[in-house]
Amino acid sequence: MEPVPFELFREALFKVIQLNRKYVPPYGSGATLYIRPLLYGSGAEVGVKPAAEYTFIIFVTPVGPYFKGGVVPVNMLISRDVDRAAPNGTGTFKVGGNYAASLRAIVAAKKGGYSSTIFLDAKEKKYIDECGPANFFGIKNNTYITPRSESILNSITNMSLIQIAESLGMKTERRPIPVTELPEFEEVGACGTAAVISPIAKIFDPSDNKVYEYSPNCIPGEITMKLYNKLVAIQYGDEPDPFGWISYVD
Ligand SMILES: Cc1ncc(COP(=O)(O)O)c(C=O)c1O
Repeated sequence: MEPVPFELFREALFKVIQLNRKYVPPYGSGATLYIRPLLYGSGAEVGVKPAAEYTFIIFVTPVGPYFKGGVVPVNMLISRDVDRAAPNGTGTFKVGGNYAASLRAIVAAKKGGYSSTIFLDAKEKKYIDECGPANFFGIKNNTYITPRSESILNSITNMSLIQIAESLGMKTERRPIPVTELPEFEEVGACGTAAVISPIAKIFDPSDNKVYEYSPNCIPGEITMKLYNKLVAIQYGDEPDPFGWISYVD
């Protein structure tokens, strides 16, 4: 696909927010304006080849708060039967096919009472890739550790949390995380724009019936909440933004 030029993207983004300003939920409600850019091939042709023409749109809609009564840790199921994305495939891109491949496993996990699925690397089934539609991180020894993988989305929330963790004096590592390392983490979570962080209470691995537990009494971990509160405070403008992430839309 042709990339959308940065300036065009920025102009469209500001315009759609300005035109829909009456739908921006009030400060303090916890609700937000969801912004979804979309790019699709739209030329008048049929065939398995890149399109000659593309349409770029951005739509917005108000959405309610992700956590209604405070941040609640969730349970996750490791997917052993379904792969989300292959190495050297399209896993690093936000394309519909990745979601199609993941939905059956996510629906089955939800039916089993889990919030979502943890997908493993498709080649060796040894390493953690990502959590349904969110990146994974674990914390141990004051270090924020998140997977390096050829098949996961490069989450902006994860990148932001890495910078916040470093600014709070933590070490950070981006490297393959074997499933066998799960018992060593003090806290684990899933991160993405929608929830910012979903702390993970339990992970179940159906291959050996092992359960990894992180949040006794369903209370989110201290470091997880420190990272969460800092990022949300910057997003809401409650605290200064030392990173230059915030843009004002008049
Ligand atoms: C597959 C996948 N991974 C990770 C994320 C989190 O990314 P971000 O923090 O950019 O929202 C998303 C969010 O849309 C996603 O769909």
